[in-house]
Amino acid sequence: MPLERANLRPPPLTALVTGATSGIGRAVAERLAADGISVVVTGRNAQRGAETVSEITAAGGHARFVAADLDDPADIDRLAAEVGEIDILINNAGQARQAPTEEMKVSDYDAMFASNVRAPFFLVAAFAPAMAAKGSGSVVNIGSIAASIGLATSAAYGATKAALESLTRAWTAEYSERGVRFNTVAPGPVHTPIATPERLDALAQTTVMKRSAEPAEIAEVVAFLASSKASYVTGATVAVDGGRTAI
Ligand SMILES: NC(=O)c1ccc[n+]([C@@H]2O[C@H](COP(=O)([O-])OP(=O)(O)OC[C@H]3O[C@@H](n4cnc5c(N)ncnc54)[C@H](OP(=O)(O)O)[C@@H]3O)[C@@H](O)[C@H]2O)c1
Repeated sequence: MPLERANLRPPPLTALVTGATSGIGRAVAERLAADGISVVVTGRNAQRGAETVSEITAAGGHARFVAADLDDPADIDRLAAEVGEIDILINNAGQARQAPTEEMKVSDYDAMFASNVRAPFFLVAAFAPAMAAKGSGSVVNIGSIAASIGLATSAAYGATKAALESLTRAWTAEYSERGVRFNTVAPGPVHTPIATPERLDALAQTTVMKRSAEPAEIAEVVAFLASSKASYVTGATVAVDGGRTAI
């Protein structure tokens, strides 16, 4: 290709995927990289971060790992400074700590709200203004069916995901006129280490499809919403739950 034409190619889009060291986040990072997007992989575990990066680069994609503990607001600031401007933010990192309400420890309750709600809030605060200034960007927040259905021992976890859906709608009002779209993907049970296989299997039996999802099935929907193919979708909660919330 002549040099002048090569120079006309736009630079690749950049995405930050939180919790890309495992499960759904890793699958999303791999899926976005397969679309030619340059991916920043983040999480606390450097070894699993390196594995995600290796898998992406082995497949011909572009990725780098930046470690961060999103429970620490100062680490969010450091991550944002290190990453710089991005086109796509996937707020995926999260944790689920189950307990009967009367047995839930304050520390577990606070830890879930820190990683599942406060971290996405301050990541959007860090990255959305630059997206709005250039008039484009896409943020996908990973919710859960637990936001919409009552699950015993998941009251606090479900509340974090309901809060995240609420934030998604508020951010839609705040930023979508300036070209930044926000959506929530709400998965049902997915084969990842976040819950025991027994718990996932029990939940899977309550879905119409009677099975859990593979992380790649969630990643496919996330990649669509992150892309310009979803240019008229903002403020939505998209259920990817084997029909669980339809019944
Ligand atoms: N699997 C399901 O059935 C299911 C269903 C509905 C929704 N979800 C949601 O999907 C998202 C991904 O979960 P998953 O199932 O893929 O679980 P997972 O395999 O356990 O992955 C969780 C990810 O979050 C990261 N993370 C957790 N706390 C963090 C913190 N303080 N700072 C930085 N990173 C942190 C972990 O990274 P490090 O370990 O490297 O820190 C890990 O990469 C979560 O928001 C979860 O609530 C999952």
